Amino acid sequence: MTDPHTAKPRLTKDNLTSLQTHILAEEQEYPGATGDFSWILSAITLAGKAIANKVRRAGIEDVLGSLGTQNITGDTQQKLDVISNEIIMRCLGDRANVGVLASEEGDTPVILRSSAEGGHYAVIFDPLDGSSNLDVSVGVGTIFSILRTADLKSEAPEDLILQPGTLQVAAGYVLYGSSVVCMLTTGHGVDMFVLDQSIGAFVLVKPKLTIPSTKKIYSINEAYYDDFPDGYQRYLNWAHANGYSGRYIGSMVADIHRTLLMGGVFMYPPTKAHPQGKLRLMYEANPMAMIVEQAGGKALAEKQRILEIQPTGLHQRTSVLIGSPAEVDHVLEHLGSDS
Ligand code: AHG
Ligand code: MN
Ligand code: MN
Repeated sequence: MTDPHTAKPRLTKDNLTSLQTHILAEEQEYPGATGDFSWILSAITLAGKAIANKVRRAGIEDVLGSLGTQNITGDTQQKLDVISNEIIMRCLGDRANVGVLASEEGDTPVILRSSAEGGHYAVIFDPLDGSSNLDVSVGVGTIFSILRTADLKSEAPEDLILQPGTLQVAAGYVLYGSSVVCMLTTGHGVDMFVLDQSIGAFVLVKPKLTIPSTKKIYSINEAYYDDFPDGYQRYLNWAHANGYSGRYIGSMVADIHRTLLMGGVFMYPPTKAHPQGKLRLMYEANPMAMIVEQAGGKALAEKQRILEIQPTGLHQRTSVLIGSPAEVDHVLEHLGSDS
C-alpha cells in the first residue's frame, strides 16, 4: 500500500515485522554492516523455536527430570538442560562467522574456527535458565550474549571470552512462558518479539521497549533473609513498611521479564551459601544488564555497574541488583558501607 502524499510504502501500526526482517532493516541503517547479526540471530531464534517445541512437549516426550549429572558449577543437570545445549550448539555450529561458543553446561569454551578462518564472534549462553522449574511447567528461558572477537590480538579461548559486558554487541533472551517471547538488543534499544506458532516466526510486538521508572515490587528469594548482608535486610524492612509487593518465580528470565514490563527490582544478593552471589556473570548477569540498561533501567552488582566488571572466569558468579532506576536507587540508599 502506498501513501498518496509521499508515494512511499505506507507504514501502519499493523505492519507485520519478523525478527529477521527487523535485524536486516536495522543493519541497513549502519554503513558497513555485514549482515553478521542476521546470520547469528537466525541460528539463535531457530534454536529458540526448537527448544520451545521440546519444552511444550515435556511430559509427553521423555525430556523431564534430572540426568543425575552436575555441570561445572555444581548444578544438577536436567535432561532439558543438556538437550537445549545440544540444540544451540547444532544451530550455531555451522554459522561461519561464529568462532567461539561457551555455555553454562560446558566446562570450557568450544573453539569452532579462528579469526583468520572467519570466526569473528563469540556466543555465550545459558541454554535453559530456571530449569529446576521445568517439572512444574513454570516459565524457563534461554539467555545469550554476543561478543566480537575479530579484533583481539590473542586467540587464547579465555581472552576471547573474558571481555567486560560493555563490549557485548548484542544480548537477549527467549522466554518459554505462556507465550514464547524473544527480547533482543543490539545496542540500539530493546525490541520484544513473540513467536507466532502458526507461521513459525518471531513477530515484533514492542519496539524500543522501556522499563517503567518506578513500581513497588521487589523480586528476591526472601527465604534467605537471614543470610543477606545487613543493607538488604534494611531495604526489605523498609519495603515492608512502604506498601511493596513481592514477586519471585525463581527463573531469572521470567523474573527479569516481568520486571522489564511492569517495573520493580530484581535482586540476588550475596548469601552465606554464595558469598559472591549465585548468578553467573557471563551468561546471566551481563546479557540481562545490557537489556535492562538499554531499556532505561539500572543493573548493579552491589554498587558497581555489572557491565563494567572485568571477568576472570567463564563461570564466575556475581550478585545482581537490576530493575527500574528509582527502585534500584531505593535499594542503594539502604546499602551502607557494610552493604
Ligand atoms: P539455572 O537454572 O540456569 O541454573 O539458573 C537458576 C537461577 C535463576 O534462574 C534463578 O534466578 C535462581 O537460580 C534461583 O535461585 P534460588 O532457587 O536460590 O532462588
Ligand atoms: Mn540460569
Ligand atoms: Mn541454565
